[in-house]
Amino acid sequence: MSNQDKIKQLIEFRAEAVLGGGEKRIEAQHAKGKMTARERIDVLLDDGSFEEFDMFVTHRCTNFGLDKQKIKGDGVVTGHGTIDGRVVYVFAQDFTVFGGSLSETFAQKICKIMDMAMKVGAPVIGLNDSGGARIQEGVTSLSGYTEIFQRNILASGVIPQLSAIFGPCAGGAVYSPALTDFIVMSKESSYMFLTGPQVVKSVTGEDVTVDELGGAVVHGSKSGVTHFISDDEREGILLLRKLLSYLPQNNLEDPPVVPCDDPIDRLDDVLNEIIPDNPNKPYDVKDVIHTIVDNHEFLEVHRNFAQNIVVGFARFNGMSVGIVANQPAYLAGVLDINASRKAARFVRFCDAFNIPLVTLEDVPGFLPGTAQEYGGIIVHGAKLLFAYGEATVPKIAVILRKAYGGAYCVMSSKHLRGDMNYAWPTAEIAVMGPKGAIEVLQSKKIKEIEDPQERAKFVADAEQEYKDQFANPYNAAQYGYIDDVIEPRNTRFRIIRALQSLSTKKVVNPPKKHSNLPL
Ligand code: HXC
Repeated sequence: MSNQDKIKQLIEFRAEAVLGGGEKRIEAQHAKGKMTARERIDVLLDDGSFEEFDMFVTHRCTNFGLDKQKIKGDGVVTGHGTIDGRVVYVFAQDFTVFGGSLSETFAQKICKIMDMAMKVGAPVIGLNDSGGARIQEGVTSLSGYTEIFQRNILASGVIPQLSAIFGPCAGGAVYSPALTDFIVMSKESSYMFLTGPQVVKSVTGEDVTVDELGGAVVHGSKSGVTHFISDDEREGILLLRKLLSYLPQNNLEDPPVVPCDDPIDRLDDVLNEIIPDNPNKPYDVKDVIHTIVDNHEFLEVHRNFAQNIVVGFARFNGMSVGIVANQPAYLAGVLDINASRKAARFVRFCDAFNIPLVTLEDVPGFLPGTAQEYGGIIVHGAKLLFAYGEATVPKIAVILRKAYGGAYCVMSSKHLRGDMNYAWPTAEIAVMGPKGAIEVLQSKKIKEIEDPQERAKFVADAEQEYKDQFANPYNAAQYGYIDDVIEPRNTRFRIIRALQSLSTKKVVNPPKKHSNLPL
């Protein structure tokens, strides 16, 4: 073969690999409204930045006649490229090749780019679309999955790991995404489940559709498995690009600071009016968030799951922060099992990647009741407590209204090494709300009063006395637990000042193998 022929052959091999499972299967993929693996990578990365690895890899399986069906690349496209000029490593599973199922060599390709990403300290993004373990391969496929899991685990907290689910993800295909930091699912085409509807039917007798079992809406609202739901694949991929803009490349770097043209000292008069006079009336804490952050931009995580707490990314004067805010407009902002799990995981992510935490607090306490106790609210609530107490990033909290009971302690309090603890004049800081407190403190006296009118007056007076004592921030401020009581409209400026002053914060936890988080 002449050298020219060799070059021609290379070009042909490349063209063959690019076609994956072939034109018919690509058409079938498009007919389902799905992009191919390569099309997804094109949307994800900066134009022309993709450098591919291992397009000539094929599987080694000879079972079930597979030795006669070898496809260059073996069902996964891997490599590196850039997003907004920053290096990322990426893999995209190709459903046109054996349904994106994972073989030993397919896994090795993914492991290779994960190892590279760890060496250079760059994020890994996985675009998943897979029927799970390649059934014909047996244990070598399972070993491949497990090699990926091991790398996910070691990379956790070192480099950001992001997953998108753009197809069926069954069996082993769901566990690697579950080990990563964030999952995006598309409403149109994503499913995640350990076992599909047929297996569910035969084991439990339950009739369930794929959507009901593991669709994007279910995982975004009921299980909390996915952090983001997109309308389609393109929106999901663009969301990954946006998410990455808030994150550092690895745990040794700080998040990027972007130029900010939003005045740091703008006064938001609307905030002086936002808290209703009646403490039992709700307001939307997202209005507070959108008002104070740069250009009113907030990337909410877990928008439809445990809506009594709001978490997400934003910027103050160009600096990335993680925001955690109780939501009085949903279940009065109470902390329950799901809210605690959701916020704890977010706090730990931010802490692992040097992203300061801004906490906006308005919480009536933990949700009482058997459902919560039997579900282990003690342990789940402790996760959030642990996460805040363990975190060493700058921690700024603003108590907007209620900070009652254990929830006061948990939500970035001074006693959990909160750096700047501010309160609005509308703050109420106490062991519990006035009604509950008077019922406990005065129960005997209340029972003794026979006349209903007299009883009601006694209770009202007692509640008022309690409110006068605790329904303000000054009692806590007297002890130095609140650093300052601030005017609501000045909140943005005070947070930015605090972030600036904390930018060189260094706190190191005691040396240990690892903590024993209450899982
Ligand atoms: C080999 C597979 C495959 C698999 C799909 N294919 N899944 N090949 N191993 N796991 C092949 C199909 O045979 C078919 O090949 C092609 O991919 C497209 O699949 P279809 O079924 O035609 O597509 P669709 O109707 O869209 O259904 C997709 C699907 C379904 C829902 C993913 O294929 C399916 O249920 N697959 C099996 C899922 C599963 O149970 N996986 C194993 C999980 S156990 P042809 O040539 O006919 O087009 C597991 C253990 C790991 O993963 C545990 C680690 C912790």
